[in-house]
Amino acid sequence: MRLRDCHNFQDFRRLARRRVPGPIFDYIDCGADDEVSKRRNAAAIEACDLVPNVLRGVGEVDLSVTVMGQRPELPVYLSPTALQRVFHPDGELAAGAVAAEMGTMFGVSSIGTVSLQAVRALGRNPQCYQFYFHRDRGLNRAMMQAAREAGVEVMMLTVDSITGGNRERDKRSGFGIPAAPCRGAS
Ligand SMILES: Cc1cc2nc3c(=O)[nH]c(=O)nc-3n(C[C@H](O)[C@H](O)[C@H](O)COP(=O)(O)O)c2cc1C
Repeated sequence: MRLRDCHNFQDFRRLARRRVPGPIFDYIDCGADDEVSKRRNAAAIEACDLVPNVLRGVGEVDLSVTVMGQRPELPVYLSPTALQRVFHPDGELAAGAVAAEMGTMFGVSSIGTVSLQAVRALGRNPQCYQFYFHRDRGLNRAMMQAAREAGVEVMMLTVDSITGGNRERDKRSGFGIPAAPCRGAS
């Protein structure tokens, strides 16, 4: 199976399962506990209808939206995702370049694997910095300052990760942050 055979999300998922080491695939793919919420979330999105507006004229197509004070050119953006160079050597440089090309917002994870400056240099599309609050206030200040100095426009505080999820697939494989030696693919 090759990239050119991928036509939808499930194709990409199948390809990733074959290409990426098992514990890393599971890190991306798994949810917490019995993964019930993950299944329900996916089902809820699948239940949404896209209602087309026909005969509206497509001479000037403008998909831009205002979100968090920014004006991305698309109504979808790349959510912050940690450790991208674990999935692919180019990591955030590849994903950030796509966001820049499409003019949409790029979410920069505070557990990134490429420097904030390198990601910022990819384009002038808006970026948001996702921030985890640490006990160490000095660390918090330094991280926010670094993002601001790099030119990231939006700060996003993550509030739903007070403790890590009970990710059972990660437990079985031994995947951890920082990465621990894995006990083998699932
Ligand atoms: C592999 C992976 C890593 C993620 N890393 C982060 C992160 O570092 N910070 C964060 O706020 N959210 C992180 N998320 C959550 C995503 O930003 C996003 O909110 C979540 O995946 C829901 O969007 P989706 O339904 O499009 O996957 C991560 C998600 C995945 C799958």
